[in-house]
Amino acid sequence: MPMSKAAPIGDIFITLTGNTSILRSEHFSKMKDGAIVCNSGHFNVEIDIPALRKLSKSEKEVRNFVQEFTLRSGRRIHLLADGRLINLAAAEGHPASVMDMSFANQALSAEYLAKNRMGRGGSVVLENKVYPVPKDIDREIARLKLLSMGVIIDKLTPEQEKYLASWQEGT
Ligand SMILES: NC(=O)c1ccc[n+]([C@@H]2O[C@H](COP(=O)([O-])OP(=O)(O)OC[C@H]3O[C@@H](n4cnc5c(N)ncnc54)[C@H](O)[C@@H]3O)[C@@H](O)[C@H]2O)c1
Repeated sequence: MPMSKAAPIGDIFITLTGNTSILRSEHFSKMKDGAIVCNSGHFNVEIDIPALRKLSKSEKEVRNFVQEFTLRSGRRIHLLADGRLINLAAAEGHPASVMDMSFANQALSAEYLAKNRMGRGGSVVLENKVYPVPKDIDREIARLKLLSMGVIIDKLTPEQEKYLASWQEGT
Protein backbone atom coordinates (compact mmCIF):
# COMPACT_ATOMS: atom_id res chain seq x y z
CA MET A 1 0.00 0.00 0.00
CA PRO A 2 1.17 3.62 -0.38
CA MET A 3 3.45 4.78 2.43
CA SER A 4 1.04 7.55 3.44
CA LYS A 5 -1.51 4.82 4.32
CA ALA A 6 1.04 2.43 5.84
CA ALA A 7 2.74 5.01 8.09
CA PRO A 8 0.06 5.23 10.81
CA ILE A 9 -0.65 1.49 11.00
CA GLY A 10 2.72 -0.25 10.54
CA ASP A 11 4.82 -1.68 13.35
CA ILE A 12 7.90 -2.46 11.23
CA PHE A 13 9.00 -0.67 8.01
CA ILE A 14 11.69 -2.13 5.74
CA THR A 15 12.81 -0.23 2.63
CA LEU A 16 14.58 -1.92 -0.30
CA THR A 17 14.04 0.11 -3.41
CA GLY A 18 17.55 1.33 -4.30
CA ASN A 19 15.91 4.77 -4.25
CA THR A 20 16.09 7.79 -1.95
CA SER A 21 13.83 9.24 0.80
CA ILE A 22 11.28 6.43 0.89
CA LEU A 23 10.60 7.04 4.60
CA ARG A 24 10.62 10.77 5.33
CA SER A 25 9.25 13.46 7.70
CA GLU A 26 5.63 13.20 6.63
CA HIS A 27 5.74 9.45 7.37
CA PHE A 28 7.70 9.60 10.66
CA SER A 29 5.24 12.14 12.04
CA LYS A 30 2.37 9.69 11.50
CA MET A 31 4.05 6.56 12.87
CA LYS A 32 2.96 4.76 16.03
CA ASP A 33 4.96 4.97 19.25
CA GLY A 34 7.60 2.22 19.08
CA ALA A 35 7.60 1.81 15.29
CA ILE A 36 10.73 0.17 13.89
CA VAL A 37 12.36 1.36 10.64
CA CYS A 38 15.17 -0.27 8.71
CA ASN A 39 16.61 -0.55 5.22
CA SER A 40 17.81 -3.45 3.09
CA GLY A 41 18.41 -1.52 -0.16
CA HIS A 42 21.66 -0.36 -1.72
CA PHE A 43 22.51 2.70 0.40
CA ASN A 44 21.53 4.45 3.61
CA VAL A 45 19.47 7.19 1.92
CA GLU A 46 16.18 5.25 1.76
CA ILE A 47 15.33 6.35 5.30
CA ASP A 48 15.74 10.12 5.63
CA ILE A 49 17.75 10.00 8.86
CA PRO A 50 18.55 13.75 8.93
CA ALA A 51 14.78 14.42 8.77
CA LEU A 52 14.13 11.92 11.58
CA ARG A 53 16.81 13.63 13.64
CA LYS A 54 15.24 17.03 12.95
CA LEU A 55 11.86 15.82 14.25
CA SER A 56 13.45 14.40 17.42
CA LYS A 57 14.17 16.00 20.76
CA SER A 58 16.58 13.21 21.79
CA GLU A 59 18.10 9.94 20.67
CA LYS A 60 19.94 7.08 22.34
CA GLU A 61 21.22 3.60 21.53
CA VAL A 62 18.93 1.22 23.45
CA ARG A 63 20.74 -1.96 22.35
CA ASN A 64 23.16 -3.00 19.64
CA PHE A 65 21.95 -1.80 16.22
CA VAL A 66 18.87 -0.06 17.74
CA GLN A 67 18.83 3.75 17.90
CA GLU A 68 15.76 5.16 19.67
CA PHE A 69 14.61 8.60 18.49
CA THR A 70 12.13 10.43 20.74
CA LEU A 71 10.10 12.84 18.63
CA ARG A 72 8.92 16.17 19.98
CA SER A 73 5.42 14.59 20.12
CA GLY A 74 6.82 12.09 22.67
CA ARG A 75 6.47 9.12 20.29
CA ARG A 76 9.53 6.93 19.76
CA ILE A 77 10.88 5.52 16.50
CA HIS A 78 13.55 2.82 16.46
CA LEU A 79 16.09 2.94 13.64
CA LEU A 80 18.02 -0.28 13.04
CA ALA A 81 21.70 -0.47 12.00
CA ASP A 82 21.93 3.26 11.11
CA GLY A 83 19.76 2.67 8.04
CA ARG A 84 22.45 0.47 6.43
CA LEU A 85 21.65 -2.89 4.76
CA ILE A 86 20.03 -4.63 7.70
CA ASN A 87 20.80 -8.24 6.76
CA LEU A 88 24.46 -7.41 6.16
CA ALA A 89 25.00 -4.75 8.88
CA ALA A 90 23.18 -6.59 11.69
CA ALA A 91 22.77 -10.21 10.55
CA GLU A 92 24.28 -12.73 8.17
CA GLY A 93 22.56 -13.20 4.83
CA HIS A 94 19.80 -13.67 2.27
CA PRO A 95 16.53 -15.64 2.83
CA ALA A 96 14.95 -18.07 0.32
CA SER A 97 11.98 -15.74 -0.12
CA VAL A 98 14.36 -13.22 -1.73
CA MET A 99 16.38 -15.73 -3.71
CA ASP A 100 13.22 -17.13 -5.39
CA MET A 101 13.03 -13.96 -7.51
CA SER A 102 16.76 -14.08 -8.33
CA PHE A 103 16.42 -17.69 -9.45
CA ALA A 104 13.28 -16.92 -11.50
CA ASN A 105 15.27 -14.16 -13.26
CA GLN A 106 18.15 -16.52 -13.94
CA ALA A 107 15.93 -19.36 -15.22
CA LEU A 108 13.84 -17.14 -17.51
CA SER A 109 16.97 -15.34 -18.76
CA ALA A 110 18.57 -18.70 -19.65
CA GLU A 111 15.39 -19.66 -21.51
CA TYR A 112 15.44 -16.29 -23.30
CA LEU A 113 19.07 -16.83 -24.38
CA ALA A 114 18.32 -20.33 -25.66
CA LYS A 115 15.25 -19.21 -27.59
CA ASN A 116 16.60 -15.95 -29.02
CA ARG A 117 20.18 -16.77 -29.90
CA MET A 118 19.28 -17.64 -33.47
CA GLY A 119 16.81 -15.76 -35.65
CA ARG A 120 14.83 -17.26 -38.50
CA GLY A 121 17.15 -18.62 -41.17
CA GLY A 122 19.95 -19.27 -38.65
CA SER A 123 21.22 -15.67 -38.30
CA VAL A 124 22.74 -14.83 -34.88
CA VAL A 125 20.47 -12.42 -32.97
CA LEU A 126 22.34 -12.33 -29.66
CA GLU A 127 26.12 -11.94 -29.77
CA ASN A 128 28.54 -13.23 -27.14
CA LYS A 129 28.38 -10.30 -24.73
CA VAL A 130 26.60 -9.25 -21.53
CA TYR A 131 22.94 -8.21 -21.85
CA PRO A 132 20.66 -6.80 -19.15
CA VAL A 133 17.71 -9.00 -18.17
CA PRO A 134 14.92 -8.01 -20.57
CA LYS A 135 12.49 -5.68 -18.79
CA ASP A 136 9.53 -7.86 -19.75
CA ILE A 137 11.00 -10.78 -17.81
CA ASP A 138 11.90 -8.64 -14.79
CA ARG A 139 8.45 -7.04 -14.68
CA GLU A 140 6.60 -10.32 -15.18
CA ILE A 141 8.40 -11.86 -12.20
CA ALA A 142 7.66 -8.79 -10.08
CA ARG A 143 4.02 -8.83 -11.20
CA LEU A 144 3.58 -12.49 -10.27
CA LYS A 145 5.33 -12.03 -6.92
CA LEU A 146 3.19 -9.03 -5.97
CA LEU A 147 0.04 -10.78 -7.19
CA SER A 148 0.86 -13.77 -5.00
CA MET A 149 1.25 -11.42 -2.01
CA GLY A 150 -1.81 -9.23 -2.74
CA VAL A 151 0.35 -6.05 -2.73
CA ILE A 152 -0.35 -2.64 -4.34
CA ILE A 153 2.62 -0.21 -4.60
CA ASP A 154 3.56 3.51 -4.62
CA LYS A 155 4.26 5.58 -7.77
CA LEU A 156 7.72 7.25 -8.15
CA THR A 157 8.10 11.00 -7.51
CA PRO A 158 9.97 13.01 -10.22
CA GLU A 159 12.91 13.33 -7.76
CA GLN A 160 13.04 9.54 -7.35
CA GLU A 161 12.90 8.89 -11.12
CA LYS A 162 15.82 11.30 -11.53
CA TYR A 163 17.83 9.68 -8.70
CA LEU A 164 17.32 6.19 -10.16
CA ALA A 165 18.54 7.33 -13.59
CA SER A 166 21.76 8.93 -12.27
CA TRP A 167 25.01 7.61 -10.76
CA GLN A 168 26.30 10.75 -9.03
CA GLU A 169 24.86 10.18 -5.54
CA GLY A 170 25.40 7.09 -3.41
CA THR A 171 28.25 5.49 -5.34
N1 LIG B 1 20.33 -6.40 1.41
C1 LIG B 1 20.81 -7.22 0.49
O1 LIG B 1 21.41 -8.24 0.78
C2 LIG B 1 20.57 -6.91 -0.94
C3 LIG B 1 20.76 -7.91 -1.88
C4 LIG B 1 20.50 -7.58 -3.21
C5 LIG B 1 20.10 -6.32 -3.56
N2 LIG B 1 19.96 -5.37 -2.61
C6 LIG B 1 19.51 -4.02 -2.89
O2 LIG B 1 18.10 -4.04 -2.79
C7 LIG B 1 17.55 -3.02 -3.64
C8 LIG B 1 16.48 -3.60 -4.48
O3 LIG B 1 17.02 -4.60 -5.34
P1 LIG B 1 16.14 -5.24 -6.49
O4 LIG B 1 16.97 -6.19 -7.22
O5 LIG B 1 14.85 -5.68 -5.88
O6 LIG B 1 15.94 -3.93 -7.37
P2 LIG B 1 14.77 -3.56 -8.35
O7 LIG B 1 15.20 -2.34 -9.06
O8 LIG B 1 14.34 -4.77 -9.11
O9 LIG B 1 13.57 -3.25 -7.34
C9 LIG B 1 13.44 -2.06 -6.66
C10 LIG B 1 11.98 -1.69 -6.75
O10 LIG B 1 11.73 -0.56 -5.93
C11 LIG B 1 10.75 0.19 -6.58
N3 LIG B 1 10.71 1.54 -6.05
C12 LIG B 1 11.51 2.60 -6.36
N4 LIG B 1 11.11 3.68 -5.68
C13 LIG B 1 10.02 3.31 -4.95
C14 LIG B 1 9.14 4.00 -4.05
N5 LIG B 1 9.27 5.31 -3.81
N6 LIG B 1 8.16 3.31 -3.46
C15 LIG B 1 7.99 2.00 -3.71
N7 LIG B 1 8.78 1.29 -4.54
C16 LIG B 1 9.78 1.95 -5.17
C17 LIG B 1 11.14 0.13 -8.05
O11 LIG B 1 10.05 0.44 -8.87
C18 LIG B 1 11.55 -1.33 -8.18
O12 LIG B 1 10.46 -2.12 -8.54
C19 LIG B 1 18.73 -2.48 -4.45
O13 LIG B 1 19.10 -1.25 -3.88
C20 LIG B 1 19.82 -3.53 -4.27
O14 LIG B 1 21.10 -2.94 -4.35
C21 LIG B 1 20.15 -5.65 -1.30
